[in-house]
Amino acid sequence: MSILEVREVTQEFGGLLAVDKVSFQVQEGTVVSVIGPNGAGKTTLFNIISGVYAPTAGQVLLRGKEIQGNKPFQSAGLGLTRTFQNLQLFSRMTVLENVMAGRHLRTASGFFASALRLPQAMREERLTREKAISCLQRVGLEEYAERPVTSLSFGEQRLAEIARAMVMEPALLLLDEPASGLNPAEKIQLVGLLRQLRDTGVTILLVEHDMNTVMELSDRVIVLYLGRKIAEGTPAEIQQDEMVVAAYLGGEKIC
Ligand SMILES: Nc1ncnc2c1ncn2[C@@H]1O[C@H](COP(=O)(O)OP(=O)(O)O)[C@@H](O)[C@H]1O
Ligand SMILES: [Mg+2]
Repeated sequence: MSILEVREVTQEFGGLLAVDKVSFQVQEGTVVSVIGPNGAGKTTLFNIISGVYAPTAGQVLLRGKEIQGNKPFQSAGLGLTRTFQNLQLFSRMTVLENVMAGRHLRTASGFFASALRLPQAMREERLTREKAISCLQRVGLEEYAERPVTSLSFGEQRLAEIARAMVMEPALLLLDEPASGLNPAEKIQLVGLLRQLRDTGVTILLVEHDMNTVMELSDRVIVLYLGRKIAEGTPAEIQQDEMVVAAYLGGEKIC
């Protein structure tokens, strides 16, 4: 069954078609990557799926239910979580607080009740802390829990951001260029982590420039070019696709 369906989605910015009638489906429990050169429309597509933008046209269905135009927190409540191309951590908080902040988006009592220290909120706070610590263990950052998040290396901050997404217990996780800025060892760690997540049933939709990461991880690859989907298939199929290869030979780097 497909957890996500994107149907003829179009996003226009002042006459520019940043995303042009793009359609695809993501099957539950798979890793799907969206690749394409800068300006292809990858981030815009993520912004539409996660509710940052309402598309000019088309539908986005999460488990068969239309979600286009939803606010990001509404989609988060339905099990869709994302990370951003540029790190979006709270620089004044510790690593643990950053990861816990992810969970506040979906706890019943929310941020304010927790600030007021209501009993129900306190119980949730404890649960949130436990879950956040377990996510930090899974990304290998538990020793750094109490440190300011800014004391971590760039790669470690990326992992902290993924831990913050994991604490939401998403069914569908959108990651925008998670490997960018990582060193080779960190990339290997990332691939292992995402595989583990997939194996626990999380569906992953990825925008990624790093082709090794894409080819190692993906069940399917979608290629965008100037807002359009020009190819879709398994990593092996994409590597042999004529249009994708032509885009390379045309001097345009596709990824
Ligand atoms: N908020 C915006 N307003 C106007 N144009 C935008 C906006 N966001 C993206 N674009 C344009 O849409 C196109 C696709 O951008 P983007 O989705 O960021 O591509 P990618 O992530 O593949 O590099 C680009 O031409 C970009 O300049
Ligand atoms: Mg982008």
